[in-house]
Amino acid sequence: MTARQNLIYIGDNAKVMESPEFKDYVNSVDLIYIDPPYNTKGKLCYDDKNKSWKEDFLKRIRLAHSLLSDSGVMFISIDDKELVSVLTSCYEVFGHKNFGGMFITKQAIRSNSSQINIIHEYVVCFCKNKKFAPKFYIKRIINPDEAPAIKSIISQIKRVFNKSGKEEAKKVLAQKIKEYSEKYNDSWIVNYNNVSDDGRIYFSKDLSTPAKPREVNIKSINLHLDPLKTRGWVSDKKFIELYNSGRLCFKDKRPYEIEYIEEATNNITSILDFYSRYGTNDLKRLGLYDLFDTPKPVELIKFLIRACLHQDGLVLDFYAGSGTTAQAVYEINKDDNMNHNYVLIQLDEPLNIKSAAYKKAIELGIKDPKVSDLMICRIDRYLALEKKEKDYNIIKFN
Ligand SMILES: C[S@@+](CC[C@H](N)C(=O)[O-])C[C@H]1O[C@@H](n2cnc3c(N)ncnc32)[C@H](O)[C@@H]1O
Repeated sequence: MTARQNLIYIGDNAKVMESPEFKDYVNSVDLIYIDPPYNTKGKLCYDDKNKSWKEDFLKRIRLAHSLLSDSGVMFISIDDKELVSVLTSCYEVFGHKNFGGMFITKQAIRSNSSQINIIHEYVVCFCKNKKFAPKFYIKRIINPDEAPAIKSIISQIKRVFNKSGKEEAKKVLAQKIKEYSEKYNDSWIVNYNNVSDDGRIYFSKDLSTPAKPREVNIKSINLHLDPLKTRGWVSDKKFIELYNSGRLCFKDKRPYEIEYIEEATNNITSILDFYSRYGTNDLKRLGLYDLFDTPKPVELIKFLIRACLHQDGLVLDFYAGSGTTAQAVYEINKDDNMNHNYVLIQLDEPLNIKSAAYKKAIELGIKDPKVSDLMICRIDRYLALEKKEKDYNIIKFN
């Protein structure tokens, strides 16, 4: 396949994905996120209703499936109305065995029914092949549920360390660990009970393995270890790597690997708190309030990408809307020092002239505005605020 780059296709997603140009992507997309029209509300700024919804969806899911790599993963946002169509279509194309699970994303409470008040949507997950799919996990320090408490402990310990030194910081850390474990009824943090010489919290991970006992003698790093009674040691290569990266520490002459608390990970759970209004606020932060009716929260898409793309990968969104997925990819690349690329597809659907988005587009000087214009406008605004060069190509598709 050609060198990876950020690409934006403007046109109907089925036509684009079926086209010869797109053959390059067959079997090579690592993650697909889509947020199709939900078929509920008629006209938003785009057309949300569709008589042949399931048929059209199924066709696109077949195309998407062929694009995913063997370890590829697909996420689909949807609500109650078409959940069954999404599940049955995906079971048909991916097979039941490749169902990866389903998130419930909590939404703001509103009085919207005389029966059950619906305060959630879904993100459905399917893997191309569960056998090859990545393990899903997220760094606790960026998991919205855990981040505030962990960040607070890190900064308190750093403060004590700077003021009173390492021993005092360790004492305060022990107290913080106790409070955290009691409050959250979770004991993972008890391992992170060390403070480094520069005031960072870490876990000293054991380096013995269930292998046969063996002696270690590595002259280049001056490491000699006697055999343990019943267990082996990690490989010489691993010891050298740890030494070279400053990750080897010793307690009572026994070696351990340093893992900082910022690196601690957790598996992910099925209920998420990414409210729709966060998506609106993301646009507001770019100075683009009202630009789009149903933008997804950037943090939701970042969470999904971070949970399963642990190496640089290619992300496809073929119902791109306002381009939230592009912003999510940029932010992860910046914050996590990654190098993911995106491919977006968005129809050049004319904006509903009665919508606030239409008004906004006219205000921004966009003539005869289309949804795809909003997407480009949002991406450009994000790049301009970040003082980044444009790094995508647009391909118009008829
Ligand atoms: C729910 S919105 C996506 C919102 C997006 N996730 C965001 O955060 O801005 C669905 C989008 O799909 C687009 N769309 C609908 N049918 C399409 C098609 N056949 N090909 C490409 N885009 C399409 C609509 O114009 C709309 O912008």
